Amino acid sequence: MIDATFMSSNKANDSLSKVVAKVIAIDGPSGSGKSTVAKNLAVEMNVLYIDTGAMFRALGYVFDKEKLVIEDSEKNRHFLNNLKMEYGLSESELIVINNENLTEKIREHHVSKLASQISQLPFIREYLLKFQRSLALDRVCVMEGRDIGTVVFPNSFAKFFITASVETRALRRLNQLVENGDNSHSLEQIIDDVKKRDETDMNREVAPLKKADDAELIDTTNLKLLEITSLLVKKIHGRAQEFGIQL
Ligand code: DC
Repeated sequence: MIDATFMSSNKANDSLSKVVAKVIAIDGPSGSGKSTVAKNLAVEMNVLYIDTGAMFRALGYVFDKEKLVIEDSEKNRHFLNNLKMEYGLSESELIVINNENLTEKIREHHVSKLASQISQLPFIREYLLKFQRSLALDRVCVMEGRDIGTVVFPNSFAKFFITASVETRALRRLNQLVENGDNSHSLEQIIDDVKKRDETDMNREVAPLKKADDAELIDTTNLKLLEITSLLVKKIHGRAQEFGIQL
């Protein structure tokens, strides 16, 4: 597990250079299966798993809890600059802000919307960009998000863009909700939500969801997630050899 505390000081950022980063970048839209693939990959390869969505979720949650309006303001910048964010203290303490463990709270349904709102703000993205870079300094890791291969680590040695058809992604989401005891949504409604979320994610001004030119596109519509993991492990070993990276 990583043990990193971050309080707005950012040495890490300056050291991102043209050198190849030992980061396996996994990007893609929600419901594409990328989280499962990223987690499986990290376990399979015995490397660190970094869930950047959890960071946006945690900030969305904290802003809401502190009754801060989600906007760029002096007050919010000040709040952010004095925040203590910790990632990966242990399995059960994936994300901790100001000593509060938010690992479970960020999975509540209403937090998705807060995360999506907060992720639109450039100053929030800048803050998390530095944090994410500081976590991955000189270690092999799997980092999952929307902009890892394009913005956070454009120099990563292995990049994958995981996707699936809108219908498949909506169905996966619906099954998840039903498993959690929520039967209040129709498939049509969720298809609509997925389309709207894609639209927002792909069209936001800062770091939009976009496949990096050098990322490999993996469509999971007709594939089993375990099959994908073993396929990617092979590809990653090939890339590592090519770049002289010790896994
Ligand atoms: O992957 P997720 O659903 O946990 O992400 C939560 C939100 O954060 C989602 O609206 C997309 C956003 N996000 C982002 O903008 N950039 C990332 N690197 C990761 C997540």
